[in-house]
Amino acid sequence: MKEDQRPLQQRNKSPTSKLFTRGAAYVVLVLLSYTLGYLSHTSPPQQQQLQPPSPVFQLADSPSQLDNFRVTAPCANSPLPPHLVFPTILDRVFNGSSPYSNFPPPYLSSFLKQKRIKGWGSYGAVFQHLIKRVKPQVIIEVGTFLGASALHMVNVTRELRLQTQILCLDDFRGWPGFRDRFKDIKMINGDVLLFQQFMQNVIYFNATGSVLPVPFSTASGLEKLCEWGITADLIEIDAGHDFISAWGDINRAYRILRPGGVIFGHDYFTMADNRGVRRAVNLFAQMNNLKIQTDGQHWVLDTSLAKHN
Ligand SMILES: C[S@@+](CC[C@H](N)C(=O)[O-])C[C@H]1O[C@@H](n2cnc3c(N)ncnc32)[C@H](O)[C@@H]1O
Ligand SMILES: *[C@@H]1O[C@H](CO)[C@@H](O)[C@H](O)[C@H]1NC(C)=O
Ligand SMILES: *[C@@H]1O[C@H](CO)[C@@H](O)[C@H](O)[C@H]1NC(C)=O
Ligand SMILES: *[C@@H]1O[C@H](CO)[C@@H](O)[C@H](O)[C@H]1NC(C)=O
Repeated sequence: MKEDQRPLQQRNKSPTSKLFTRGAAYVVLVLLSYTLGYLSHTSPPQQQQLQPPSPVFQLADSPSQLDNFRVTAPCANSPLPPHLVFPTILDRVFNGSSPYSNFPPPYLSSFLKQKRIKGWGSYGAVFQHLIKRVKPQVIIEVGTFLGASALHMVNVTRELRLQTQILCLDDFRGWPGFRDRFKDIKMINGDVLLFQQFMQNVIYFNATGSVLPVPFSTASGLEKLCEWGITADLIEIDAGHDFISAWGDINRAYRILRPGGVIFGHDYFTMADNRGVRRAVNLFAQMNNLKIQTDGQHWVLDTSLAKHN
């Protein structure tokens, strides 16, 4: 005992083992800097798509990892028939009475415009193309703002004489600072009147029979729709445009898409978007073996088409 008072781990070390440890540390260091360099290196997007799936992708694709992207709330066992969709929303979200009745209340009317519409790419031909193709009974719009695209879809369904019901999922808060560009949307005690102006727009266009808002976050709203058995033939994604938002919205929305339905969304081609929307769409399509089509600025995933590329 006397000759060696060092802790147990250090006792049996010969000079060679010390040398080995130092050598190993050096190798680890070299490997580490190589790995870090490799990871921080960003390859051009086109190249990424042509390469075989990266290790990260393989991880995500294994069933156990995929569960991490899945949400826990169980969905209804069977979908509600389309004619029960609006009654269910009225009952579950609005306690049985239409949000449009007696709207606007007197204290609000002076703050609202008769109509105030502004959207982005909201009149693109993609809406007509897809509504013609799918003839949807139920459309869910994820991201509505003042209702430009939703009301345009109403116009298209009317022209085609379809009885389409449209649910508009939006928290109707816009985004921090949006009033810099929409000063005329009034604010009362910090509460911006986006929801109320949207409602007013729907009333102005006589669309209260075919458009219902679901005024919650896209995450909690899509979860609940699934739980209530609400599904759609056509789903438009146009809420948060960062990767995490788009990824969450697309994954959650896909769960409530009817088999053979179409999911599509705006801003496939914006500048940042190999990091944002486009990255989410590409990854989702790859993981689910779906073919991406584009139509104007929009991406389209038609689940009735087999993948050909
Ligand atoms: C680009 S606008 C939608 C425009 C609309 N589709 C049109 O073309 O007229 C995006 C909307 O998404 C909503 N939004 C963004 N993130 C959201 C979230 N996490 N939950 C609910 N709504 C969200 C904002 O309130 C905003 O109204
Ligand atoms: C829901 O509506 C009923 C009347 O239909 C009313 O008695 C009840 O208080 C309402 N509940 C809430 C939470 O507003
Ligand atoms: C719907 O169509 C009518 C008639 O063509 C037009 O006046 C109106 O602006 C359209 N509404 C929207 C929201 O595009
Ligand atoms: C809404 O309906 C009313 C009454 O039928 C009609 O006068 C008005 O022109 C319609 N408005 C729009 C925008 O279609």
